[in-house]
Amino acid sequence: MVTPEYNYANVDSYLALGEDIKLDDYLVAVYKIDSALPLDKAAATIAAEQSTGTWTNVVTSSKTILEKYGAKVVEINKNENTAYIAFPKEDLSYHIGGIPGLMAIIAGNLFGLHALNGVKLIDVIFPKDFAEIFPGPRYGIEGIRKIVGTEKEKRPHLGTIIKPKIGLNPEETAQVAYEAAIGGVDFIKDDETLVDQDFCPMDERVPRVMEKLDLVKQETGRTVLYSVNITTGGQEILSIADAVKGMGANMVMVDAITAGFSAIQSLAKDEVFDLPIHVHRTMHGAITRYPNHGIDMLVFAKLDRLAGGDQLHTGTAAGKMAHNPQHVKEMDDFLRDPNFFGKKTVFPVASGGVYPQLVPENIKVLGNDLVINAGGGIHGHPDGTRAGATAMKQAIDASVKGITLEEYAKDHKELATALKEWK
Ligand code: 3PG
Ligand code: 3PG
Ligand code: MG
Repeated sequence: MVTPEYNYANVDSYLALGEDIKLDDYLVAVYKIDSALPLDKAAATIAAEQSTGTWTNVVTSSKTILEKYGAKVVEINKNENTAYIAFPKEDLSYHIGGIPGLMAIIAGNLFGLHALNGVKLIDVIFPKDFAEIFPGPRYGIEGIRKIVGTEKEKRPHLGTIIKPKIGLNPEETAQVAYEAAIGGVDFIKDDETLVDQDFCPMDERVPRVMEKLDLVKQETGRTVLYSVNITTGGQEILSIADAVKGMGANMVMVDAITAGFSAIQSLAKDEVFDLPIHVHRTMHGAITRYPNHGIDMLVFAKLDRLAGGDQLHTGTAAGKMAHNPQHVKEMDDFLRDPNFFGKKTVFPVASGGVYPQLVPENIKVLGNDLVINAGGGIHGHPDGTRAGATAMKQAIDASVKGITLEEYAKDHKELATALKEWK
């Protein structure tokens, strides 16, 4: 096997440690780096590879090109193995390119470089005018609370995922949605793997579910959201979004990592389509899970907010997926922070293995501006979906009132049954 060596030429010209840069003129990407090279050289290698450099000197380059378009390592932290790399905003495509173009710059070739054992993109700071080309969420937390009618209450929303993930026909799906809605959920979603399979075609599923939710409205006065999974590619997603809106849908859902965040952006800035967008992050674990390689979920949260997702899964403080509660809180706080280039907030979604007993911990750590989702934790209730939804809602009410679940269960029988079922 031939193992060539690459000593990146002039790598030191990408070092500008301590230089005071204007954040309006640069996009800053923060990396955690694992390399046999000294940290500054490893960071400079990334700066070269991702901007004007290559592994050797090229006669086609110039001092002016390097000065104007070269990325610079402006800070390193040896204790944390992190480096701040500033990309001149001229490196970015402002007119076309958007998130795919951006990711090729800050999250492209560098992940495959031999010179690095591992590298993780942990944060991004955007120049103001670049952030301004993105629409941001149409509704955000406030807009969604207004639709559901919880803008005064400010309690966590309760959501459910229709389970089993796949296999129910449209009629069965609609009946499960009805039971969950009557039981007390605010929000129902398709699972990330259900789109338009033959056993449950969208054009039969959506009208049937919405018919049941209209019934719930008549019976209880409550508006319940149903987020239809329209994950698909390219142009098609816009026509499917319009089609489901025509079928009465009041929300859509997109798997943003498999479809790409541009899908969210296209929906959020479309002039005709105007429904809230629920964003699922399936596949993120392949990219976000390892501490020394990949992309931190916080970066995806930032892309989601720019692109215009109204709700985003960030994980739980207690649940079945791998998680670090403080990191989930950090992301949720970012999504709820009113100051992000004038973009509306995003409703964080805690989901994955949640059942009533885990509700107090999730609310304690993550707060009340939260959507708490449960699939098994609702449809697995011994008395069925309706009782399961009621038990979860009772767990939320108890937590918000600061009453223990055991105490609350004394006169709330659905919760009492759930507490017996799941220890
Ligand atoms: C996640 O955080 O990505 C979830 O665990 C999956 O979400 P879902 O339960 O709503 O599919
Ligand atoms: C998933 O896909 O993992 C779920 O939608 C979460 O479902 P659960 O609440 O049954 O774990
Ligand atoms: Mg799921």
